[in-house]
Amino acid sequence: MVDASSAYPDQEEKVKITRRRFTLGVLLAAGAGALGSLLSLVKVLAPEMKGGGYVATVGPGDQLVYAQGSRQGSHLRASEFQVGDAVLAYPQGKTGNQANIVQLIRLKETEFRPPIRQELTDQGFVAYSAVCTHLGCIVSWVKSPQDPAPSYTECFCHNSLFDPARGAKVIGGPAPIPLAQIGVKVSKDGILVFTSGFSGPIGPQV
Ligand code: FES
Repeated sequence: MVDASSAYPDQEEKVKITRRRFTLGVLLAAGAGALGSLLSLVKVLAPEMKGGGYVATVGPGDQLVYAQGSRQGSHLRASEFQVGDAVLAYPQGKTGNQANIVQLIRLKETEFRPPIRQELTDQGFVAYSAVCTHLGCIVSWVKSPQDPAPSYTECFCHNSLFDPARGAKVIGGPAPIPLAQIGVKVSKDGILVFTSGFSGPIGPQV
């Protein structure tokens, strides 16, 4: 039988192991279907860790920018999103810390159910950490082709499923806790802006 203390001789080693898992997780997510667009995410190091998760540096007033694709680095404008759309985004100027990456989704406000924190949403926009709470892969959006069938957030590494209308509650797979919600609003200029930090722990809960 393996003694847990010998498996993780000290905290520094534990952090190294988790960082390796993070990088592997990003690679697996890329292999799941978005290789080209996610390769840029691999270029930076895994985030700092503290306690049971990653240390994010996003905060109120930070503006959301596209994390990938031809519009990478451009502001997210509310007018660009229909109900059912979702993208990966970063706070502008803080893209070097992968703990900051979020999935921004536009839903029907009437679909919101507890434990979502509705005060952290605006005009149907809701955002969650995009780092899976199992082993740290980047989650994907699975859009239902038929309304009103629900759409979900899924982590393809080990098939964890999260319900964005219910606070990213875990509805399948090994993820131990929901994805942390973060406040967003539409500014007077029509761009998406963060209004808070994350509501809970982010990253793998090792
Ligand atoms: S890392 Fe997401 S389900 Fe395992």
